Amino acid sequence: MAQQEDVFKKIVSHCKEYGFVFPSSDIYDGLGAVYDYGQNGVELKNNIKQYWWQSMVLLHENIVGIDAAIFMHPTTWKASGHVDAFNDPLIDNRDSKKRYRADVLIEEQMAKYEDKIQKEIEKAQKRFGDSFDEAKFRATNERVLENQKKYDDLHHRFQEVMNAEGGIDLDGLKQIILDEGIVCPISGTRNWTDVRQFNLMFKTEMGSTADGASTIYLRPETAQGIFVNYLNVQKTGRMKLPFGIAQIGKAFRNEIVARQFIFRMREFEQMEMQFFIQPGTELDWFQKWKAYRMKWHQNLGFGAENYRFHDHDKLAHYANAATDIEFRMPFGFKEVEGIHSRTNFDLSQHAKYSGKKIEYFDPDTNESYTPYVIETSIGVDRMFLSIMCHSYEEQLLPDGQTRTVLHLPAALAPVKLAVFPLTKKDGMPEKAQEIINDLRFHFNCKYEEKDQIGKRYRRMDAIGCPYCVTVDQQTLEDNTVTLRDRDTMEQKRVAISDLRGIIEDKVSITSLLKKLL
Ligand code: GAP
Repeated sequence: MAQQEDVFKKIVSHCKEYGFVFPSSDIYDGLGAVYDYGQNGVELKNNIKQYWWQSMVLLHENIVGIDAAIFMHPTTWKASGHVDAFNDPLIDNRDSKKRYRADVLIEEQMAKYEDKIQKEIEKAQKRFGDSFDEAKFRATNERVLENQKKYDDLHHRFQEVMNAEGGIDLDGLKQIILDEGIVCPISGTRNWTDVRQFNLMFKTEMGSTADGASTIYLRPETAQGIFVNYLNVQKTGRMKLPFGIAQIGKAFRNEIVARQFIFRMREFEQMEMQFFIQPGTELDWFQKWKAYRMKWHQNLGFGAENYRFHDHDKLAHYANAATDIEFRMPFGFKEVEGIHSRTNFDLSQHAKYSGKKIEYFDPDTNESYTPYVIETSIGVDRMFLSIMCHSYEEQLLPDGQTRTVLHLPAALAPVKLAVFPLTKKDGMPEKAQEIINDLRFHFNCKYEEKDQIGKRYRRMDAIGCPYCVTVDQQTLEDNTVTLRDRDTMEQKRVAISDLRGIIEDKVSITSLLKKLL
């Protein structure tokens, strides 16, 4: 685990060193859980968004996109339930003055019991080797049984408190923290305040105060921009059910436990698609979207074993099915995407609060009804993080040297081709520029002439550039160059006129999209 934490730290510093992700307002020492994307980060991020957008809007005739404003009428958030219920239970430690999410403190305590069990199992596995029977060990070992009971009791109590009649039982949460003897990691004391509910939405004011300003919110999800535009899109696009509306945009949450780099941010980006369907067909569509979204992830070639579904046992009152797609990050399997069957909750709420009829007239059945919705919702930044984590490698080479390489899927890589003149003379720089001038219309190219070729290769490996071309003396004679592959490091001699044909297909988003069909 410690080793994985080290790897994660290295990935975070690599992101900064190579222009992928910087802390926001870095010269002022950053702003908590807010990040900026640098020159390479923005290219990778744009490619992720393009892969998602095109897989939705280009590949599905019945899905269209929109781009709604971040500011929305404040009643939107009353109707959606966010004003009343988008809360985290918080607790403060009086000695350290640090604030925590009470539910997270308890979840971490449960994880400690699980860790203890896991350690016993690993120890026994080493001792007994091939003859080790884990099920029997779990059922008989005293220390495992003791920790399992502590875990089960705590889990049961936690579920009761979180799902209490009328909302989370805040006193009950505090009592668990006291009974479990949970201490503040900074002060080491149990001097806790009461637990309070804290709304995660950022507020601001619209209009001048003299005019009577109104409180508005920065949207905590992009989904509501889609729901409030359902009628506009359905009517102007003459859409027939089933159909979907896709959107990519910023969302804001005043997260209290903001950790793990860009995993949990206060300003982040979502790619959401709401698929409107006939009531009664939702569980079928839910399964279809579950399968399609998993295929989209696995299409990147990171290995099926690194993904899993986490189906929700406890559903929000308006949902009748929900699952997360989790990816194996260095800090464990974590949610990257949520897929939810949201019934007709959102459209019905907006109909109620706006007084507008929000329905669909079905020409096949001659009936009007409020459509049901399947939502797919993925965080761009979490997707970015999962790609960086999976691609990063410190590779030991046969000659004993090491190189840091990002094995990014070529279609997502920020730079597709780097072109180097071997030396800065004899017309080699001009020839290299000529190659770039020709290919830059087809994919992202970069010119590099500083340092020895070996160093230039390393710099390109570190940003995940899949191909490098070197212009040398022979190029000037026969118009061929060496083409080097990032992953195999193999070099071959190819004609300049063949470069586009060799590279373009491999680095295009289209190559990924074709594998989805
Ligand atoms: N409209 C549904 C919705 O917003 P969610 O599970 O709260 O559902 C969907 O968020 C996705 O947005 C998550 O799976 C995650 O990838 C991303 N996300 C949510 N909160 C985030 C945060 N604070 N920082 C980064 N990404 C976040």
